[in-house]
Amino acid sequence: MTIEARSWTRPEAVAFNRLPMTTFMRDPSEVVSLDGDWSFTLLDRPGGTVRAEATVEVPGCWTMQGIGDPPQYTNVQMPFPGPPPRVPDDNPTGVYRRRVDVPAAWAGRRVVLHVGGAESVLYVDVDGAYVGMGTDTRLPQEFDLTDLVTPGSACELTLTVVRWSAATYLEDQDHWYHAGLHRSVLLYSTPPVHIADVRAVADWDRTTGDGVLDVRAVTGATPARDALIRAWLDGTVVGEADARWEHPTSEPVNAYLFEGRGGVVRAAVPGVAPWSAEKPRLHDLRVELVAQGGDVLDAVALRVGFRRVEVRGHELLVNGQPVLIKGVNRHDHDEQRGKAVTRDSIRRDVELMKAHNLNAVRTSHYPNDPYLYDVCDELGMYVVDEANVETHAYLRSLTKAPEWAPAILERVTRMALRDENHPSVIMWSLGNESGWSPIHDAAAAWLRARDPGRPVQYESGYLESLLHGAPPPEAWRAPRPETDVIPPMYPAVEDLEEWATAALPRRPLIMCEYAHAMGNSCGDLDRYWRAIEAHPGLQGGFVWDWVDQALAHDLGDGRERLAYGGDFGDDPHDGPFCLNGLVASDRTPHPALLEAKAVLQPVGFAWLGGGAVRITNRHDFTDLAEVADVDWSVTVDGDEIAAGSLGRVPLAPGTSADVRIPVPPLRVTGTEVAHLTLSVGDVAVGQTELARSRAPGPASPAASRALDTRLCLWRAPIDNETYGPRHAERWDAMGLRTAHERVELRSEVDGDRITHEVTVPDDWDDIPRVGVRLSLPPEVVAVDWLGRGPHECYSDRRAGAIVGRWRTAVDDWPVRYVHPQANGNRTGVRWLRFLDAGGDVVLTIGELDDLDVTVSRWTDEELADASHLDELPVRDHAFVWVDARHRGVGSGAVGPDVSPPHRVGPGTYRWSYRIR
Ligand code: GAL
Repeated sequence: MTIEARSWTRPEAVAFNRLPMTTFMRDPSEVVSLDGDWSFTLLDRPGGTVRAEATVEVPGCWTMQGIGDPPQYTNVQMPFPGPPPRVPDDNPTGVYRRRVDVPAAWAGRRVVLHVGGAESVLYVDVDGAYVGMGTDTRLPQEFDLTDLVTPGSACELTLTVVRWSAATYLEDQDHWYHAGLHRSVLLYSTPPVHIADVRAVADWDRTTGDGVLDVRAVTGATPARDALIRAWLDGTVVGEADARWEHPTSEPVNAYLFEGRGGVVRAAVPGVAPWSAEKPRLHDLRVELVAQGGDVLDAVALRVGFRRVEVRGHELLVNGQPVLIKGVNRHDHDEQRGKAVTRDSIRRDVELMKAHNLNAVRTSHYPNDPYLYDVCDELGMYVVDEANVETHAYLRSLTKAPEWAPAILERVTRMALRDENHPSVIMWSLGNESGWSPIHDAAAAWLRARDPGRPVQYESGYLESLLHGAPPPEAWRAPRPETDVIPPMYPAVEDLEEWATAALPRRPLIMCEYAHAMGNSCGDLDRYWRAIEAHPGLQGGFVWDWVDQALAHDLGDGRERLAYGGDFGDDPHDGPFCLNGLVASDRTPHPALLEAKAVLQPVGFAWLGGGAVRITNRHDFTDLAEVADVDWSVTVDGDEIAAGSLGRVPLAPGTSADVRIPVPPLRVTGTEVAHLTLSVGDVAVGQTELARSRAPGPASPAASRALDTRLCLWRAPIDNETYGPRHAERWDAMGLRTAHERVELRSEVDGDRITHEVTVPDDWDDIPRVGVRLSLPPEVVAVDWLGRGPHECYSDRRAGAIVGRWRTAVDDWPVRYVHPQANGNRTGVRWLRFLDAGGDVVLTIGELDDLDVTVSRWTDEELADASHLDELPVRDHAFVWVDARHRGVGSGAVGPDVSPPHRVGPGTYRWSYRIR
């Protein structure tokens, strides 16, 4: 291993002898995969003593392979003490070794090493000879090995990865720090005269419906004269161009004209169907380098999609159409493998996103695994591709220091060079939470010059204005040169509305982060979207974030559990702040994802009374008839009394039509409710209440079942109450946990009807709930109910929960958030039947007037006191909470707190139910 003078500690040591970045497109026949087992030595520091020897898997994080060097989770703070560029001496260093057989068929060809990702600094040696080094954990690095290896024989490849470096200060994202070779490693070969890179711009003009393909091929090495670049689209030659290789710089006039080696093919492609997230039409592009006699010297293949992205005034247009960004932030994360994500899991992510009406991904906060972009091209997702730059701990100082400029510019430009051919990438992002400096302006200028077809976004510049005291709507109006859109984080809905209405917005506003999905969260998503749909200029945003970053933790005693910051002994750490996913770490949807699906659905329903419904097709490019049949059903207390289908309803994108559903005459008696529900395949659903009877039956003379009953004004704080506004502390100071000992619960019993009344003192503002907890008999194992569901919902997160008759096992009622907290509420509940193992009704709680109900075997105290799910007790019976009012969930850990209509304040509450 050779490592030159402590280069890992030097900001300016960005790379040595690394090849320029290109779009990777070699044919599999030219590739030798080096994925698999490598022999591995862990040193305590670069060049230090051996801590462990093992065989490890590549791609893989050694932090997840039982080597004894665990992952570490921090948010803002650095994992080690600064100031930059100080790097700890104790610095785990992995030395990967492997014998590589270089194919004999590669004689006379170039041989290149491609390392997909190395956290955080990579050094390369071949047969003991130093080749080069490089930084940027999340982009590939390539080294030319042609002169160092002999085709037909083996070489010893040594890849040394240093865990902590000056570069770590540029990678201070809120996620796990891992270490190792987490993406694929391979060797590939090219002819000596080869196509080094291709840049394909496939533009599409809405007014003509025609495309223009612009293919710029760069050649490595100089071929003979009169060679050509030839482009094929879907198997047909669409153009040829002189490759201009003759190096003419000896004459000044030619020197001025020389643009580099390569050639440009421009081809009109009339009447081509465009690419969009809704209709991701891809075309096969093949680019050849052809010798004068017609021999193909080299060829590469890639996929292109014709589309045009532009910012015009306050609108982001795709193919001339303003689009709404229904986005989510995504980290590469696998609960078993850390940052080494598999193709299957990437594809599953995108499929799940699409199935839940999301149409965009921000690759927070670094270029994601390259396969993500292929899948987004293919399945149709807009991508904001973000450079691997975050200096959060030194947010406003580090990027202003010029010694970091080379690294920042490399990270931005190399990202663009890797990903520029993907139609899914509609915008570049300069990074995250790194303040502002002229380096950002320079990076944005480079991107715009290279790629005028994509806007640039950057959030952190606005922080400068915010930190100088400008309130958000005013700060967003500041003319910022480094960004083409306004991408705020976690704004209040009121601020968005003010910005969109007070003056003509000059740029589109697309929230780079909002709806912080930490634990039980994402209240008021529907309010955001009402504002977005109402105000031109507000064009959506990216939920924070896609997947809980929980990691599987082997406890050493045969048990494994999901871990968060600190669980591996990592210090410093930021605890459960990494658990913010719309999906759990195993990709089970959280209820917040189901809410997002409903709020973002591309079909709107407005209820005009009776059976009249206005249907709005919110797609941008898809007629409703292409989506699915529009089906309807009418229910009374969840029982279907009529149903039908309107079949395919032709409705152009962006238009509405009124339809009339043949609702039969309704008879609702007692406390029944009738609903009309419309659905469009699995894409959209809407529901309205048609009728409700308010004639509760007389109380039965039979006495009500006596269940142990206790007043509850508290709930186990959700993360939004532990962090952010810290309601948890406030409620503790109020003694809310034991409020039942001091506040009177007045209960009237009239046969089987129980009515409760509670007066919440005037100074008890904003408490979690007003309700009672009842102990259920132990034989209860399942629940059947009429109310919103089937999944967990709260007053500010229930758009995706429709009223129906639902059934679940008691054990499946709760949501197992990795960090225990209150969970499992259902709103709008009208009755519950508790069943035993044989399905017989053990107990009924009925005539609830749309109350909030929770069922759980765990008390709030137990949930609040546990830090992991496996600490919760196993109990033979469950409880049911029947609440007159229950607080919403909001987004308060980072973002707006629960909005006033969904809070619980002082006053007298009265609620009743019948229990049999
Ligand atoms: C943002 C940041 C994210 C994440 C989030 C809180 O400020 O960009 O990476 O830290 O807050 O979960």
